[in-house]
Amino acid sequence: MPTGSVLVTGGTGYIGSFTALALLEAGYKVVVADNLYNSSVESLNRIELICGKRPEFAQIDITDEEALDKVFQDHPDLDSVIHFAALKAVGESGERPLDYYHVNVYGSICLLRCMVRHNVTNIVFSSSATVYGDATRFPNMIPIPESCPLGPTNPYGNTKVTIETAIVDVINAQRNNATKAENVAEAEKWNGALLRYFNPAGAHPSGIMGEDPQGVPYNLLPLLAQVATGQRDRLLVFGDDYTSRDGTAIRDYIHILDLATGHLQALNYLRSYHPGVRAWNLGTGKGSTVLEMIRAFSAAVGRDLTYEVAPRRPGDVLDLTSDPSLANKELGWKAERTLEDACDDLWRWTKNNPRGYRQEPPSDLLKA
Ligand code: NAD
Ligand code: WQD
Repeated sequence: MPTGSVLVTGGTGYIGSFTALALLEAGYKVVVADNLYNSSVESLNRIELICGKRPEFAQIDITDEEALDKVFQDHPDLDSVIHFAALKAVGESGERPLDYYHVNVYGSICLLRCMVRHNVTNIVFSSSATVYGDATRFPNMIPIPESCPLGPTNPYGNTKVTIETAIVDVINAQRNNATKAENVAEAEKWNGALLRYFNPAGAHPSGIMGEDPQGVPYNLLPLLAQVATGQRDRLLVFGDDYTSRDGTAIRDYIHILDLATGHLQALNYLRSYHPGVRAWNLGTGKGSTVLEMIRAFSAAVGRDLTYEVAPRRPGDVLDLTSDPSLANKELGWKAERTLEDACDDLWRWTKNNPRGYRQEPPSDLLKA
C-alpha cells in the first residue's frame, strides 16, 4: 500500500479525475485542488460511486499561492504532485496568451515554490504532444520519439515547453543543492515526469464518468458526440488534402483509462527509481485519420454520422502519432484499450448523461 498523499491539481477535470480514480484504486490518498473553471465537483461524487473512496477537495486557484500553500500546510503527508490544472484551448491561447501564461506558467511557478517550501519532491506534469509542433518537418520523426526537437506552434504549446523547462531547472537545482551538502538521499528524492500525451479519448466503461467541459467543445470526439445526440447537425472535417491514406489528418487517440494508468505508473516509477526528470510519450503508437474516427464512432452509435469537408484548421499538422516505446519499456506501461473501446465508452457516457455532470447518474448504470 503506497504511503503519502498525492496532490492532484486540476483533479476535477477530465484527465485529472480519471487519474484521481486510478490513484485511489491503487491505494494512494488523494487531495484534489481545482478552481472548477472548467469542471464540476460532481466528478468527485462519480469517483466515489465507482471506487467507494473520495479524494479530499480544496477549491482554490493555483495562481493564489497563499491558498495553494495552505493546501500543503493542511496535508503534511503530501509527497507528490500530479499537475493538471491549466487552460488548454489551443485557439483561445492565440487570442488570450497572457491568461495562458498566467494560469499555466505562473500557476506552475506557485506550485513549484510550494513544493520546495514543503519539501514535496515528486512531480508528474501534464505536458502535451503539442510541444513537438509539426514533427513531419524532420525526416524519420513519425512516430514521434521523445528525442524529437520541440517546436510548438501556439502559445498554449509554448507554455507547456516553458513549464517543462522550469520543472527541469527546479528539480536539478534541488538535487544539486542537496548533493553539495553531501545529502545524496535528499538529492534522490527530487524527481519529475513530463508526460506528453497525445489525444485523450473515451469515458469510464460504467457510463457514469466522462468528459464534461463547461463551454463549447473543440476536440474531435466531443464534437462527434454532439452530432450523434443531435446538438450539432454535422461535423466539419478540417481538410481532406493532407498526404495521408484518405487525405485527412492523423492523430493518436488514447483511451482515458490507459492515460490515467500511465500517470500512476509514472508516479510509482519516480517514487522507486529516482531518475531526476524524464519525459515520456503517452500514446498508443497507432494513428487514425479523421474519417477513420468518424467511422469508428458511427459504428459505436449504430448509424452513419453526417460530416462535411471544410478547409484545414489553421495550426493543424498532418500527423501526430506517438512512439510510446520508452514508456512501454521504462514505466512498464502500455495502452491496452482499443479505439472501439474508446468510442463505445464515450457513446455510453454521452447517451446516458446528456447533461453531463449536471444531472444525477442513471440509476440502472449504478446497479450494473
Ligand atoms: P480540463 O479542463 O478538463 O482539466 C483542467 C482542470 O484545471 C479543470 O478542472 C479546471 O477547472 C482546472 N483549472 C484551470 N485553471 C485553474 C486554476 N487557475 N486553478 C485551479 N484549477 C484550474 O482539461 P484536461 O483535458 O483534463 O487536461 C488536463 C491537463 O492535461 C491540462 O494541463 C492540459 O493542458 C493537459 N493536456 C490535455 C490534453 C487533452 O487533449 N485533453 C492533451 C494533452 C495535455
Ligand atoms: C483532432 C483531429 C482536427 C475537430 C488538440 C491540441 C493538443 C492536445 C489535444 C492539449 C485534427 C480534426 C477536429 C473538428 C476536425 N491538447 N477535427 N473537425 O488538434 O489533434 O489536438 O487536443 O494538449 O495540444 O492541439 O485535437 O480533437 O481538436 O483534432 O476535422 O470539428 O480532428 O483537424 O486533425 P488536436 P482535436
